[in-house]
Amino acid sequence: MTPLETQLESFRAEALAAIAGCADLPALVQLKAKYIGTSGVVTGALKMLGSLPKEDKPRVGKLANEVKSALAAAFAARQEELEAKTAAGPALDTTLPGRRHRLGRLHPLTQIFEDTVRIFRRMGFAVEDGPEIEDEWHCFDALNTPADHPARDIQDTLYVDLPPHAQHGRYLLRTHTSPVQIRTMLRRQPPIRIIAPGRVFRRDNPDATHSPTFHQVEGLFVDKNVSVADLKGTVEFFFRQLLDPATKVRFRPHFFPYTEPSFEIDLSTPHFRARGKEWIEIAGCGMVDPNVFRAVGYPADVYTGWAFGFGTERLAMIQYGITDIRLFTENDVRFLSQF
Ligand code: DAH
Repeated sequence: MTPLETQLESFRAEALAAIAGCADLPALVQLKAKYIGTSGVVTGALKMLGSLPKEDKPRVGKLANEVKSALAAAFAARQEELEAKTAAGPALDTTLPGRRHRLGRLHPLTQIFEDTVRIFRRMGFAVEDGPEIEDEWHCFDALNTPADHPARDIQDTLYVDLPPHAQHGRYLLRTHTSPVQIRTMLRRQPPIRIIAPGRVFRRDNPDATHSPTFHQVEGLFVDKNVSVADLKGTVEFFFRQLLDPATKVRFRPHFFPYTEPSFEIDLSTPHFRARGKEWIEIAGCGMVDPNVFRAVGYPADVYTGWAFGFGTERLAMIQYGITDIRLFTENDVRFLSQF
């Protein structure tokens, strides 16, 4: 045997053992390159055939080709085995629990807005909207709130640094949804039946019960001969629909600049009572002050009307027993998925 034949035989034995012991595809690719790749050792031996004596050439050439095709076949077979293993092997643990695709939910405040709109629509109310950046006139003056009223204090109101408006005073982030009453009355004539859900802003440091931004729903009804009885009946119907048919509603005399008389609305539901709370103050309301009608150019001796406003965060907190108002804006899915 020529030394080349001895070498070829040992390459074959060595390679076959390595292939059998090879456990993964990347290692197999490397092995293949080492033996039968373009610069592999068997390929190198084949190239050396030319330098052999004439009588050895056919025999050694035959052996070299045999070794090369035996190894090629062994590589192919092992590759197939390893591929089958990766596809169906232990990487796929069929005992693992599956991944749930969770359904999205509406934010609790969105749900309150939608329920509120649905209930008032059935009573013929339309939905109105107004800007979050308001001016002093719509937010305060037209609502019979004079310049020295505490609600206008720098403490409560966030002012916006925009070029001053000749007629309407400074700009601010609206502190309540009541300016939507003014905007609606300026655009339309009675009868008016609207609700205005929206975001409001106040200069408050955030803690469990204060937030610089929260939401309100405003209501306004203006026509001839509108009475406090209409107000009470509507408010009662609404809260019974929204919360519980057994909801009790109580009006307590109060003061708001834009209504006269004014009331605070207390609610009592079986659910609140179960939480150990008898009456909960939830909203403000009253009969539209004649000065407000004058501000929008309505004849104050012809029309009467009522208005109300309530905070949605407060309502949701009481209804669901939420103790921190910041949860509404944190977008924590563990909180949101409970509603
Ligand atoms: N604007 C009041 C507030 O932010 C709520 C309110 C009270 C609205 C009486 C009204 C109303 O329309 O008549 O606290």
